[in-house]
Amino acid sequence: MLQVRGLTVRYRPEGRAEVAAVNQVDFSIASGEAVGLLGESGCGKTTLALSLLRLLPATACEVRGSIFFGKTELLGLGESELRRLRGAKISMIFQEPEISLNPVMRVGEQIAEVIRAHHPKGRQQCLDEVRALLDQLGFSDAHRIFNAYPHQLSGGQRQRAVIAQAIVCKPSLVIADEPTTALDPTVQSEILALFNDLKARFQTAFLFISHSPAILAKVVDRILVMYAGRIVEEAETTQILRHPLHPYTVGLLRCVFELGDEGAFRPRRVLPSIPGNPPGPTDLIHGCPFEPRCPERMEDCTAREPREVKLEDSRGVRCFKYGG
Ligand SMILES: Nc1ncnc2c1ncn2[C@@H]1O[C@H](COP(=O)(O)OP(=O)(O)OP(=O)(O)O)[C@@H](O)[C@H]1O
Ligand code: SF4
Ligand SMILES: [Mg+2]
Repeated sequence: MLQVRGLTVRYRPEGRAEVAAVNQVDFSIASGEAVGLLGESGCGKTTLALSLLRLLPATACEVRGSIFFGKTELLGLGESELRRLRGAKISMIFQEPEISLNPVMRVGEQIAEVIRAHHPKGRQQCLDEVRALLDQLGFSDAHRIFNAYPHQLSGGQRQRAVIAQAIVCKPSLVIADEPTTALDPTVQSEILALFNDLKARFQTAFLFISHSPAILAKVVDRILVMYAGRIVEEAETTQILRHPLHPYTVGLLRCVFELGDEGAFRPRRVLPSIPGNPPGPTDLIHGCPFEPRCPERMEDCTAREPREVKLEDSRGVRCFKYGG
Protein backbone atom coordinates (compact mmCIF):
# COMPACT_ATOMS: atom_id res chain seq x y z
CA MET A 1 0.00 0.00 0.00
CA LEU A 2 2.82 2.44 0.87
CA GLN A 3 6.22 2.21 -0.78
CA VAL A 4 8.99 4.62 0.12
CA ARG A 5 12.26 4.56 -1.82
CA GLY A 6 15.42 6.61 -1.32
CA LEU A 7 13.61 9.25 0.75
CA THR A 8 15.97 12.04 1.77
CA VAL A 9 14.96 15.22 3.60
CA ARG A 10 17.27 18.15 4.38
CA TYR A 11 16.48 21.26 6.42
CA ARG A 12 18.10 24.66 6.01
CA PRO A 13 17.28 26.54 9.24
CA GLU A 14 17.73 30.31 8.92
CA GLY A 15 21.30 31.37 9.62
CA ARG A 16 22.41 27.81 10.43
CA ALA A 17 24.05 24.97 8.52
CA GLU A 18 21.99 22.47 6.51
CA VAL A 19 20.73 19.37 8.37
CA ALA A 20 20.28 15.94 6.76
CA ALA A 21 17.31 14.69 8.84
CA VAL A 22 16.29 11.66 6.74
CA ASN A 23 18.81 9.87 4.55
CA GLN A 24 18.06 7.38 1.74
CA VAL A 25 15.20 5.65 3.56
CA ASP A 26 13.42 2.65 1.98
CA PHE A 27 10.45 0.84 3.50
CA SER A 28 6.95 -0.33 2.73
CA ILE A 29 3.70 -0.91 4.62
CA ALA A 30 1.12 -3.47 3.49
CA SER A 31 -2.65 -3.00 3.87
CA GLY A 32 -3.72 -3.57 7.46
CA GLU A 33 -0.12 -3.88 8.69
CA ALA A 34 1.09 -2.14 11.84
CA VAL A 35 4.69 -0.99 11.47
CA GLY A 36 6.74 0.65 14.23
CA LEU A 37 9.41 3.32 13.74
CA LEU A 38 11.86 3.15 16.64
CA GLY A 39 14.74 5.47 17.49
CA GLU A 40 16.19 8.04 19.88
CA SER A 41 15.21 11.69 19.95
CA GLY A 42 16.38 13.62 16.89
CA CYS A 43 16.91 10.57 14.64
CA GLY A 44 14.34 11.84 12.10
CA LYS A 45 11.11 10.01 12.99
CA THR A 46 8.78 13.03 12.87
CA THR A 47 10.47 14.38 9.74
CA LEU A 48 9.87 11.04 8.02
CA ALA A 49 6.21 11.04 9.12
CA LEU A 50 5.61 14.65 8.00
CA SER A 51 7.16 13.98 4.62
CA LEU A 52 4.63 11.16 3.97
CA LEU A 53 1.79 13.69 4.27
CA ARG A 54 3.80 16.49 2.65
CA LEU A 55 3.48 18.57 5.81
CA LEU A 56 7.15 19.50 6.19
CA PRO A 57 7.92 23.03 7.38
CA ALA A 58 9.27 25.65 4.97
CA THR A 59 12.82 25.06 6.27
CA ALA A 60 12.81 21.66 4.50
CA CYS A 61 14.94 22.67 1.50
CA GLU A 62 15.27 19.30 -0.18
CA VAL A 63 12.95 16.28 -0.42
CA ARG A 64 14.14 13.51 -2.73
CA GLY A 65 13.10 9.93 -3.50
CA SER A 66 9.65 8.49 -4.07
CA ILE A 67 6.60 7.83 -1.89
CA PHE A 68 3.98 5.66 -3.60
CA PHE A 69 0.61 5.30 -1.91
CA GLY A 70 -1.01 2.62 -4.04
CA LYS A 71 -0.33 3.90 -7.56
CA THR A 72 -0.14 7.57 -6.54
CA GLU A 73 3.24 9.27 -6.22
CA LEU A 74 2.69 11.57 -3.23
CA LEU A 75 5.71 13.73 -4.02
CA GLY A 76 4.05 14.64 -7.34
CA LEU A 77 0.67 15.76 -5.94
CA GLY A 78 -0.59 19.35 -5.87
CA GLU A 79 -2.00 21.02 -2.74
CA SER A 80 -5.70 20.38 -3.54
CA GLU A 81 -5.08 16.66 -4.20
CA LEU A 82 -3.11 16.47 -0.94
CA ARG A 83 -5.98 18.08 0.99
CA ARG A 84 -8.35 15.42 -0.39
CA LEU A 85 -5.96 12.69 0.71
CA ARG A 86 -5.10 13.96 4.21
CA GLY A 87 -7.57 12.77 6.82
CA ALA A 88 -9.49 10.66 4.28
CA LYS A 89 -6.89 8.15 3.02
CA ILE A 90 -3.91 8.88 5.28
CA SER A 91 -4.26 10.61 8.63
CA MET A 92 -1.83 11.66 11.30
CA ILE A 93 -1.89 11.78 15.07
CA PHE A 94 0.65 14.46 15.92
CA GLN A 95 3.32 14.29 18.63
CA GLU A 96 1.68 17.30 20.31
CA PRO A 97 -2.10 16.54 20.60
CA GLU A 98 -2.84 20.28 20.95
CA ILE A 99 -2.07 20.68 17.22
CA SER A 100 -5.03 18.44 16.31
CA LEU A 101 -7.74 19.94 18.50
CA ASN A 102 -9.29 23.38 18.16
CA PRO A 103 -9.54 24.79 21.73
CA VAL A 104 -12.72 26.81 21.04
CA MET A 105 -14.83 24.09 19.43
CA ARG A 106 -16.65 21.16 21.06
CA VAL A 107 -14.89 17.85 20.40
CA GLY A 108 -17.87 16.18 18.67
CA GLU A 109 -18.28 19.16 16.32
CA GLN A 110 -14.64 19.16 15.28
CA ILE A 111 -14.56 15.42 14.59
CA ALA A 112 -17.70 15.93 12.46
CA GLU A 113 -15.89 18.70 10.54
CA VAL A 114 -13.38 16.12 9.30
CA ILE A 115 -16.22 14.09 7.74
CA ARG A 116 -17.75 17.23 6.18
CA ALA A 117 -14.39 18.21 4.69
CA HIS A 118 -14.36 15.01 2.67
CA HIS A 119 -18.01 14.03 2.12
CA PRO A 120 -21.04 16.07 1.05
CA LYS A 121 -23.12 15.23 4.13
CA GLY A 122 -25.30 17.41 6.34
CA ARG A 123 -24.16 18.64 9.76
CA GLN A 124 -26.62 16.47 11.71
CA GLN A 125 -25.70 13.32 9.81
CA CYS A 126 -21.99 13.94 10.51
CA LEU A 127 -22.67 14.53 14.22
CA ASP A 128 -24.68 11.28 14.37
CA GLU A 129 -21.81 9.40 12.72
CA VAL A 130 -19.36 10.80 15.28
CA ARG A 131 -21.65 9.75 18.16
CA ALA A 132 -21.89 6.27 16.64
CA LEU A 133 -18.10 6.07 16.25
CA LEU A 134 -17.43 7.07 19.88
CA ASP A 135 -19.95 4.44 21.03
CA GLN A 136 -18.45 1.87 18.67
CA LEU A 137 -15.00 2.54 20.12
CA GLY A 138 -16.38 1.58 23.52
CA PHE A 139 -15.74 4.94 25.22
CA SER A 140 -17.64 4.71 28.50
CA ASP A 141 -17.60 8.52 28.67
CA ALA A 142 -18.51 9.04 24.97
CA HIS A 143 -21.28 11.55 25.70
CA ARG A 144 -19.02 13.74 27.82
CA ILE A 145 -16.15 13.62 25.29
CA PHE A 146 -18.57 14.54 22.49
CA ASN A 147 -19.88 17.66 24.25
CA ALA A 148 -16.68 18.87 25.91
CA TYR A 149 -14.16 21.50 24.86
CA PRO A 150 -10.62 20.05 24.70
CA HIS A 151 -9.49 21.78 27.95
CA GLN A 152 -12.31 20.04 29.85
CA LEU A 153 -10.85 16.61 29.08
CA SER A 154 -8.03 14.65 30.73
CA GLY A 155 -4.89 13.84 28.70
CA GLY A 156 -6.19 10.30 28.01
CA GLN A 157 -9.63 11.52 26.91
CA ARG A 158 -8.04 14.14 24.65
CA GLN A 159 -5.86 11.52 23.06
CA ARG A 160 -8.87 9.28 22.45
CA ALA A 161 -10.67 12.22 20.82
CA VAL A 162 -7.64 12.79 18.58
CA ILE A 163 -7.60 9.11 17.62
CA ALA A 164 -11.34 9.21 16.82
CA GLN A 165 -10.69 12.29 14.65
CA ALA A 166 -7.89 10.45 12.82
CA ILE A 167 -9.99 7.39 11.98
CA VAL A 168 -13.44 8.91 11.46
CA CYS A 169 -13.12 8.80 7.63
CA LYS A 170 -11.72 5.24 7.83
CA PRO A 171 -8.33 6.02 6.25
CA SER A 172 -6.22 3.10 5.04
CA LEU A 173 -3.12 4.42 6.86
CA VAL A 174 -2.81 6.20 10.21
CA ILE A 175 0.52 7.68 11.23
CA ALA A 176 0.73 7.97 15.02
CA ASP A 177 3.71 10.02 16.26
CA GLU A 178 4.50 9.10 19.89
CA PRO A 179 0.77 8.96 20.73
CA THR A 180 1.25 7.72 24.30
CA THR A 181 4.44 9.46 25.42
CA ALA A 182 2.71 12.21 27.42
CA LEU A 183 0.36 9.79 29.23
CA ASP A 184 0.74 7.96 32.53
CA PRO A 185 1.27 4.16 32.33
CA THR A 186 -2.37 3.13 33.01
CA VAL A 187 -3.79 5.50 30.39
CA GLN A 188 -0.95 4.48 28.04
CA SER A 189 -2.09 0.83 28.29
CA GLU A 190 -5.71 1.84 27.55
CA ILE A 191 -4.65 3.77 24.43
CA LEU A 192 -2.47 0.88 23.21
CA ALA A 193 -5.45 -1.46 23.69
CA LEU A 194 -7.54 0.97 21.62
CA PHE A 195 -4.98 0.87 18.78
CA ASN A 196 -5.04 -2.95 18.85
CA ASP A 197 -8.82 -2.86 18.72
CA LEU A 198 -8.78 -0.49 15.71
CA LYS A 199 -6.34 -2.72 13.87
CA ALA A 200 -8.56 -5.75 14.36
CA ARG A 201 -11.83 -3.96 13.68
CA PHE A 202 -11.08 -1.65 10.73
CA GLN A 203 -7.99 -3.35 9.21
CA THR A 204 -6.33 0.07 9.28
CA ALA A 205 -2.57 0.11 8.61
CA PHE A 206 -0.45 2.01 11.12
CA LEU A 207 2.93 3.65 11.19
CA PHE A 208 3.44 3.87 14.92
CA ILE A 209 6.35 6.06 16.04
CA SER A 210 8.04 5.61 19.41
CA HIS A 211 11.41 5.78 21.14
CA SER A 212 10.37 2.78 23.26
CA PRO A 213 10.68 -0.86 22.12
CA ALA A 214 8.45 -1.85 25.07
CA ILE A 215 5.56 0.22 23.68
CA LEU A 216 6.04 -0.93 20.08
CA ALA A 217 6.15 -4.57 21.22
CA LYS A 218 2.53 -4.20 22.32
CA VAL A 219 1.10 -2.84 19.04
CA VAL A 220 3.13 -3.47 15.89
CA ASP A 221 3.82 -6.43 13.59
CA ARG A 222 7.14 -5.15 12.23
CA ILE A 223 9.74 -2.65 13.44
CA LEU A 224 11.99 -0.23 11.53
CA VAL A 225 14.92 0.91 13.66
CA MET A 226 16.13 4.41 12.78
CA TYR A 227 19.51 5.94 13.62
CA ALA A 228 20.86 9.29 12.39
CA GLY A 229 18.20 9.51 9.66
CA ARG A 230 18.78 5.97 8.33
CA ILE A 231 16.83 2.72 8.77
CA VAL A 232 19.53 0.48 10.28
CA GLU A 233 17.43 -2.62 10.96
CA GLU A 234 14.04 -3.92 9.85
CA ALA A 235 12.34 -7.11 11.01
CA GLU A 236 9.18 -8.59 12.46
CA THR A 237 8.60 -7.51 16.05
CA THR A 238 9.14 -11.00 17.48
CA GLN A 239 12.44 -11.35 15.56
CA ILE A 240 13.69 -7.97 16.82
CA LEU A 241 12.77 -8.78 20.41
CA ARG A 242 14.16 -12.32 20.41
CA HIS A 243 17.19 -11.81 18.24
CA PRO A 244 18.16 -8.20 17.47
CA LEU A 245 21.04 -7.97 14.97
CA HIS A 246 22.26 -4.37 14.77
CA PRO A 247 24.38 -3.31 17.77
CA TYR A 248 22.21 -0.17 18.09
CA THR A 249 19.02 -2.26 18.32
CA VAL A 250 20.72 -4.47 20.92
CA GLY A 251 21.64 -1.32 22.90
CA LEU A 252 18.08 0.04 22.73
CA LEU A 253 16.60 -3.25 23.91
CA ARG A 254 19.10 -3.51 26.77
CA CYS A 255 17.92 -0.08 27.93
CA VAL A 256 14.39 -1.41 28.40
CA PHE A 257 14.66 -5.16 29.01
CA GLU A 258 17.11 -7.32 30.98
CA LEU A 259 17.86 -11.00 30.63
CA GLY A 260 16.20 -12.86 33.51
CA ASP A 261 17.49 -16.09 35.18
CA GLU A 262 15.04 -18.08 33.07
CA GLY A 263 16.79 -16.83 29.87
CA ALA A 264 14.00 -14.47 28.73
CA PHE A 265 14.03 -10.68 28.53
CA ARG A 266 11.94 -8.91 31.18
CA PRO A 267 11.27 -5.17 31.69
CA ARG A 268 13.96 -3.33 33.65
CA ARG A 269 13.18 -1.40 36.80
CA VAL A 270 15.92 1.22 36.31
CA LEU A 271 16.37 2.46 32.73
CA PRO A 272 19.98 3.01 31.55
CA SER A 273 20.83 4.65 28.21
CA ILE A 274 23.27 3.84 25.39
CA PRO A 275 26.58 5.59 26.24
CA GLY A 276 27.48 8.55 24.01
CA ASN A 277 25.28 10.66 21.77
CA PRO A 278 24.02 10.28 18.20
CA PRO A 279 25.90 12.40 15.63
CA GLY A 280 24.85 16.06 15.65
CA PRO A 281 22.59 17.07 12.76
CA THR A 282 25.38 18.95 10.98
CA ASP A 283 28.22 16.50 11.74
CA LEU A 284 29.92 14.96 8.73
CA ILE A 285 29.62 11.18 9.00
CA HIS A 286 32.45 8.94 7.82
CA GLY A 287 31.63 5.26 7.75
CA CYS A 288 28.97 3.75 10.00
CA PRO A 289 27.10 6.52 11.88
CA PHE A 290 26.87 4.34 15.02
CA GLU A 291 30.65 3.65 15.07
CA PRO A 292 31.61 6.11 17.85
CA ARG A 293 29.13 4.40 20.24
CA CYS A 294 29.35 0.84 18.97
CA PRO A 295 30.75 -1.76 21.39
CA GLU A 296 31.39 -4.09 18.42
CA ARG A 297 33.14 -1.62 16.09
CA MET A 298 35.82 -3.03 13.80
CA GLU A 299 38.67 -1.42 11.89
CA ASP A 300 36.71 -1.16 8.62
CA CYS A 301 33.66 0.48 10.18
CA THR A 302 34.95 4.00 9.45
CA ALA A 303 35.97 3.26 5.84
CA ARG A 304 32.48 3.67 4.34
CA GLU A 305 28.85 3.46 5.33
CA PRO A 306 27.42 -0.09 5.46
CA ARG A 307 24.79 -0.91 2.82
CA GLU A 308 21.58 -2.71 3.69
CA VAL A 309 21.95 -6.50 3.72
CA LYS A 310 18.73 -8.46 3.13
CA LEU A 311 18.60 -11.59 5.23
CA GLU A 312 15.63 -13.94 5.49
CA ASP A 313 12.16 -12.72 4.52
CA SER A 314 11.52 -9.08 5.51
CA ARG A 315 14.75 -8.84 7.55
CA GLY A 316 17.30 -6.19 6.69
CA VAL A 317 20.30 -4.74 8.53
CA ARG A 318 23.00 -2.13 7.88
CA CYS A 319 26.11 -3.37 9.69
CA PHE A 320 29.40 -4.83 8.48
CA LYS A 321 28.99 -7.76 10.90
CA TYR A 322 26.45 -9.15 8.43
CA GLY A 323 28.17 -8.06 5.18
CA GLY A 324 27.20 -4.75 3.60
N1 LIG B 1 11.75 22.58 11.30
C1 LIG B 1 13.01 22.19 11.38
N2 LIG B 1 14.01 22.97 10.90
C2 LIG B 1 15.31 22.56 10.99
N3 LIG B 1 15.71 21.39 11.52
C3 LIG B 1 14.76 20.58 12.00
C4 LIG B 1 13.36 20.92 11.96
N4 LIG B 1 12.64 19.90 12.51
C5 LIG B 1 13.55 18.96 12.89
N5 LIG B 1 14.82 19.35 12.58
C6 LIG B 1 16.05 18.59 12.81
O1 LIG B 1 15.95 17.36 12.09
C7 LIG B 1 16.44 16.28 12.87
C8 LIG B 1 15.35 15.24 13.04
O2 LIG B 1 14.30 15.80 13.84
P1 LIG B 1 12.93 15.04 14.11
O3 LIG B 1 12.05 15.97 14.84
O4 LIG B 1 12.46 14.49 12.83
O5 LIG B 1 13.41 13.85 15.06
P2 LIG B 1 12.56 12.84 15.98
O6 LIG B 1 13.19 11.50 15.81
O7 LIG B 1 11.12 12.97 15.67
O8 LIG B 1 12.87 13.37 17.46
P3 LIG B 1 11.93 13.30 18.78
O9 LIG B 1 11.99 11.85 19.25
O10 LIG B 1 12.63 14.21 19.73
O11 LIG B 1 10.56 13.74 18.41
C9 LIG B 1 16.93 16.88 14.18
O12 LIG B 1 18.30 17.11 14.06
C10 LIG B 1 16.18 18.19 14.27
O13 LIG B 1 16.94 19.14 14.98
S1 SF4 C 1 29.05 -1.39 11.04
FE1 SF4 C 1 30.58 -1.55 12.66
S2 SF4 C 1 30.33 0.29 13.93
FE2 SF4 C 1 28.49 0.05 12.67
S3 SF4 C 1 27.08 -1.06 13.95
FE3 SF4 C 1 28.14 -2.58 12.72
S4 SF4 C 1 29.90 -3.23 13.95
FE4 SF4 C 1 29.11 -1.33 14.86
MG1 LIG D 1 9.47 13.49 16.83
